[in-house]
Amino acid sequence: MKQEIMTIVSQKKLAPRIFQMTLTGKLVDEMEKPGQFIHIKVPRADLLLRRPISINQINKEAQTCTIIYRIEGDGTKVFSELKAGDLLDVMGPLGNGFDVDCLTAGQKAYVIGGGIGIPPMYELSKQLKQKGIEVVHFLGFASKEVAYFQEEFMALGDTRFATDDGSFGVEGNVGNLLVSAIEKERPDAVYACGANGMLKMIAHVFSDNPNVFLSLEQRMACGMGACYACVCHVPDDESGTSSVKVCDEGPIFRASEVVL
Ligand code: FES
Repeated sequence: MKQEIMTIVSQKKLAPRIFQMTLTGKLVDEMEKPGQFIHIKVPRADLLLRRPISINQINKEAQTCTIIYRIEGDGTKVFSELKAGDLLDVMGPLGNGFDVDCLTAGQKAYVIGGGIGIPPMYELSKQLKQKGIEVVHFLGFASKEVAYFQEEFMALGDTRFATDDGSFGVEGNVGNLLVSAIEKERPDAVYACGANGMLKMIAHVFSDNPNVFLSLEQRMACGMGACYACVCHVPDDESGTSSVKVCDEGPIFRASEVVL
């Protein structure tokens, strides 16, 4: 993990409150694994905590990385007002990243994302496809209005959509899509990022698969394993005191490693 002042190359709005920002800097040389995140200082003196944002794409040749974020408060609102050429203080890459080495060419992976958990699944899917793995995407949004990156995922493989209000794809959550998919086939690995309820459902549906990797969305402060703001409990912990730090030991865990 390193720290650098990166330069914004571009910023665009993808959907209401959702923005895509591309950054350039030497830090990109350190970025390898999908599912890692960067920790960005908000360029406003009264906002002290950095904001953790997952990496959506890594482009080594152009020495750029892309993030997609949603305005959730003052910090991300400040990010959304920045322009090409502005500078950001960035630490990273942080986190362990998804394990793509458990699969070999010809195997099948389910890549599942919900809402603002979808961005890191794009770099993951790209890397899986480069390894010759067949990817099937299951993407869930609140509505068509806040959907984004549909075509990018469709270009990588079979992509199925669900929306809470039924305005695009199947009505309901991604669980509805999975139920019909697993009647016909079982994937060799499952990768997911999204709200806790969705991850819980996935852990349950694929409880017989050892290769279920979940990216946990946990509130963070330091982002470096120092403050314990992001702990998650582990299974079979009789004392109730054992935990893992999502920022440092995660954010990705096998479903069997954490209590959701
Ligand atoms: Fe401080 Fe994880 S955010 S330990």
